[in-house]
Amino acid sequence: MLNRIHKDHKNIMQLLQVMDNHIVSLKLDKEIDYQLLKSITDYLKHYSDKYHHPMENLIYAYYLKYRVVTDQVANRLEDDHKQLKILTTELDDMINMILLDAIIPKEVFIEKMEGFVSKQKQHLNYEEAEILPAIQSSLTEDDWAHLILQWKHKEYVDPLFGESISDQFKALALHIKVS
Ligand SMILES: [Fe+2]
Ligand SMILES: [Fe+2]
Repeated sequence: MLNRIHKDHKNIMQLLQVMDNHIVSLKLDKEIDYQLLKSITDYLKHYSDKYHHPMENLIYAYYLKYRVVTDQVANRLEDDHKQLKILTTELDDMINMILLDAIIPKEVFIEKMEGFVSKQKQHLNYEEAEILPAIQSSLTEDDWAHLILQWKHKEYVDPLFGESISDQFKALALHIKVS
């Protein structure tokens, strides 16, 4: 399960890189592909919020229950996931509006994107640098066996980085491959 989480993080970092590149282009007044950004928020909404975060939440809840962890850690993880979900929805809504030709000042959109990317990175780095190493050194094989049994979305397929890419994400997959 931890391998899955690490792999998801690498994949999400690639998507954040695409977003960063778009921010640079926007600042240089270049045309950007909003449809591509929409694919990213779609992926994060459908895959991260419905699969990646629930898997983490399951592991974290177990870890928090059976190991001594400060309240600060417990609260931060929960708050981060809630906040990321809200930020993803807000960014997705804004991209939808732009795709429907609503006038949104460029600065407002850049600020939204930057806020989103920075929060995502902070969260990923926190998990990778502090939480996951602590969990890895603390949980036993037995613990993992319990967790795997509890994980009920086992068969969920990654529609972008998985073995077969769904039509919805083909353009994004190609973009990542060539960039
Ligand atoms: Fe997370
Ligand atoms: Fe994560």
